[in-house]
Amino acid sequence: MNEIVEKYQREFARFFEIERAFAFWKGRVALYALLRALNVGDGDEVILPGYTCVMNVNPIKYVGAKPIYVDIEPETFNMNVSLLEEKITDNTKVIIAQHTYGYPCEMDTIMNIAQSRGISVIEDCCLALGSRYKRRMVGTFGLAGYFSSQWNKPYTTGLGGMVITSDTKLAERIESLRVDEMCPPSGREIFMLRAQLMFYRLLIYPRTTALAQRLFRYLVSKGAVVGSSSASEYEPVKADDFFKGMSAVQARSGLKQFKKIDHNIAHRLSMALRYDRLLDDKGFKSRRYDGGMMRPVMVRYPLRIEEKAKALEQAARAGVELGSWFECPLHPIETPLASYDYEIGTCPEAERAGREVVNLPLHPRANEETARKSVDFITGFTQAD
Ligand SMILES: Cc1ncc(COP(=O)(O)O)c(C=O)c1O
Repeated sequence: MNEIVEKYQREFARFFEIERAFAFWKGRVALYALLRALNVGDGDEVILPGYTCVMNVNPIKYVGAKPIYVDIEPETFNMNVSLLEEKITDNTKVIIAQHTYGYPCEMDTIMNIAQSRGISVIEDCCLALGSRYKRRMVGTFGLAGYFSSQWNKPYTTGLGGMVITSDTKLAERIESLRVDEMCPPSGREIFMLRAQLMFYRLLIYPRTTALAQRLFRYLVSKGAVVGSSSASEYEPVKADDFFKGMSAVQARSGLKQFKKIDHNIAHRLSMALRYDRLLDDKGFKSRRYDGGMMRPVMVRYPLRIEEKAKALEQAARAGVELGSWFECPLHPIETPLASYDYEIGTCPEAERAGREVVNLPLHPRANEETARKSVDFITGFTQAD
């Protein structure tokens, strides 16, 4: 294992005061490692919210298990825990607690339900680095937590994933899987990732994001850059080289940004409060969450609006960085839902959120002016309840 990658793993584990961290090429690879290490396989069921990215479902299908979707509750977009028990069967092996947009899940309820039935909980913290539930950081409640540092995530290493756990047996299993099965990224992938990181640092600002994203997607379609997902990942068929480790380029970038992690978190917290205030001032409903239980470190600021498609089109022209995920229960909109065992109507709140929710930037390059401009733009549209 490369020294830089080891150092990054140590720093990551230390931040969470947890025993071990394991770095991977992407967040989805981190989830795959966890499912394999937990011996999840044919006939097993894995419960997760029906409001996620399809790349998060692929690893479940790759190991031969069945994803079981729970609808979300409309304020925090997290799994509605009152619907959880009815989804549990004798085949349920794992519950994935996904902390959506940074809002912590109701961990007490999830842990109680899971523990009383001997089910493992793993936490999807890909959108929630630093969020706290009852003062404790998410990722430290379940048997393990996993993270992503892909483009849209709390910080970016281009692509990247991490698992944290203090469970010795699980850590040993991950370690041996890495030794036996993991392959390194290719020289070409590393070269392109480095170029993309440079492109990102130079070009991606709130004003330029929509344009840059269009250019990026074009380059991915021409095979000129490594996209976050390859065409083959929109069907649940695992590529031979899927189980990849992290490169030194990613770890170096991660270490650099980890030095600024407290600043990143403080910035996200204050930007979100700024949006709350600006929206309230304009009579637009801002976030509703239980501030006694949660300290959400949001990755983006979600809002519901009517005429979402029109808003996205106008935002791109106006240089407003309006995000649109998740666009359906298993983002993106092109996902063949039936191939992932999702039946339309299973999660009505998630389907509605897909039609209504847009999100605003909170990242370190967004500032007061970004917030003001975004809110001015968004309040020109009608709010959906
Ligand atoms: C909630 C969630 N979990 C996991 C992932 C997978 O992360 P990665 O893109 O690093 O594989 C994503 C993907 O974007 C995601 O949105």
